[in-house]
Amino acid sequence: MTKRLFIETVGCQMNVLDSEMVVADLRKRGYELARGLDEADVILFNTCSVREQAENKTYSALGRLRSFKREHPEKIIGVMGCMAQKDQKLVFDRAPYVDLVVGPGQLARIPDLIEQVAAGTGPQMAVSLGRRDGSVQEIKRSHETFDPLRDPTMRPTPFQAYLRIQIGCDKFCTYCIVPMTRGPEQGRDPEQILAEARVLADQGCKEITLIGQTVNSYKFTSGGRTTRLADLLYSLSDIDGIERLKFVTNYPKDMTDDLLAAVRDLPKCSPYLHVPAQSGSNTVLARMKRGYTIEDYREMFGRIRATLPEAAVTSDFIVGFPGETEEDFRLTYDLVAECRFKNSFIFKYSERPGTRGAELYPDDIPYEVKNRRNNELLELQNRISEQDSQRFLGQRVEVLVEGASERAKRTGADEGELIQLTGRTPDDRIVVFDGQPRLVGQIIPVAIYDVSPHTLFGAVVTQEVTMAALAAIG
Ligand code: 5AD
Ligand code: SF4
Repeated sequence: MTKRLFIETVGCQMNVLDSEMVVADLRKRGYELARGLDEADVILFNTCSVREQAENKTYSALGRLRSFKREHPEKIIGVMGCMAQKDQKLVFDRAPYVDLVVGPGQLARIPDLIEQVAAGTGPQMAVSLGRRDGSVQEIKRSHETFDPLRDPTMRPTPFQAYLRIQIGCDKFCTYCIVPMTRGPEQGRDPEQILAEARVLADQGCKEITLIGQTVNSYKFTSGGRTTRLADLLYSLSDIDGIERLKFVTNYPKDMTDDLLAAVRDLPKCSPYLHVPAQSGSNTVLARMKRGYTIEDYREMFGRIRATLPEAAVTSDFIVGFPGETEEDFRLTYDLVAECRFKNSFIFKYSERPGTRGAELYPDDIPYEVKNRRNNELLELQNRISEQDSQRFLGQRVEVLVEGASERAKRTGADEGELIQLTGRTPDDRIVVFDGQPRLVGQIIPVAIYDVSPHTLFGAVVTQEVTMAALAAIG
C-alpha cells in the first residue's frame, strides 16, 4: 500500500538538497508526497539552527501538532536536520509525541527508522558524534554525506539543481553552529560529483549550483593527486547539457586567483560570487574568528574586480555581534558603500548555545540597536542594489526561465495565453516578463525596460517586442 509523506523544509540550500534526497529515498520504498498533514502517514520537519528564530518557529510548528498526534497516534512525526543534531533528546523533552530525531549526517537511516517506529519500537534517534566525542576519523565517519539519488520533482525546478561537493565546516567562526551540526569539513570524491552531474544532465538539468559551507575551500586528495574547485569547474564544463555552473558559499581567504581565472575563462561559469564579509571592523572580525582582516577582504575584492569586472558580488553581514560599537558598525556601513555589493543578506546576531561565541561573549547589544543597525544597512544596500540595477535598462540579458511568477501562480491563465514568467540571469538577477508557458526551462534573451532593487522587468526579445521595449524606455 502506498504511504504518504509530508515534508517541510526551512534553512539553507543544504537542507533543500537533503529533503530532495530523503524524498527520493522514500519514494524508492513506495512513498508518495502528501499535499497536507491530513493525508500524510509520515510528517518530517527539516530544520535549521543558524538563528534562534528558526528554531522557535519549528518548536511552534511542533507544538501545533500536539493535539493532532493525540487524534492520530498512528502518524509518524520526525525532526531531521541541524536542530535535530543540536538539540537531540531535548526535542523529545519539548515535544514528547515526536517519534524520530535524525541529524543531517544520518539521513540514510530514515527509512529503516520509520519502519521500526511503525513496528512499535517507540521513539528513535540517530545523531552524529559531537566535535569532541571521538577521533577525527570516527567523527568524520559519523557525519555521512547523503547523495544517493536525484528526484527532479523535488527540486526548485527540474532544470536547476544543487550538487553537494563538500559537507561540514572547519572554520569555527565563533557565532556559528554549523561546525557542530554538520561536523568536520569533508570534500566529496570528484568521480562521484561528476557522475552525479551527468545524471542531472540526463534528467534535463541545465544549471547546477555546487554547494558547500565554504565551497571554495573544497579539496579532495587521492593517490597523491589533489582536486580543487577550479579543477571541478573545468571537468563539469565538459558535460553536455549543463549550461550554467554556480557555486556557494565562498570563504574570503580561499578566493584564489586560479579559481577567479576559471570563472573568467569558462563560459558556463556564472559571473556571480557570494563572499560573505560578515563585518567591516577588524576588532569584530577578530572576535568572530573569521581568519582575515578587512584589508585582506579588500585585497580579495580588488582581485575579483580586476579579473571579473562585471561579476555580481554578494555578501552576508551580522549586526549586533557582542561588543559591536557604533564605530564598528560605521566601518561595516562604509564597507558596503565602498564595495557596492549586488545584494547583502543582513542578520541580527543570535547567540547560539554550543558555540565559542556564546561561551566567550555576553550577547550585550540591545535588540533595538541590532534592529536599527539592521535597517540602516538594509536601506543602504537597497539604494545600491537599485542603482546597480539601473545599468540594465535597455540591455539584453540571457534568462533561464524558471516558471510562472508568484502573481501568475495566484491568478492562473487560460490555454495559449501569455503569462507572467520569472527567471534568472547568469549573475543571479531575477527577471520578470510575459511569455508563453512553453518557454519554461529554456534560456532566452530578454530586453529590460524597468528595474526595482532586486528585480529586472523585461520583454522576450523578438523583432517586434524589442522595438516595443525600446519605445517603452523612451
Ligand atoms: N546569528 C546571526 N547570523 C548568523 N549567521 C550565522 N550564524 C549566525 C548567528 N549566530 C549568518 C552568517 C552566515 C549566514 C548563513 O547566516 O551571516 O553567513
Ligand atoms: Fe559558519 Fe564560519 Fe563555517 Fe560559514 S565559515 S559555516 S559562518 S563556521
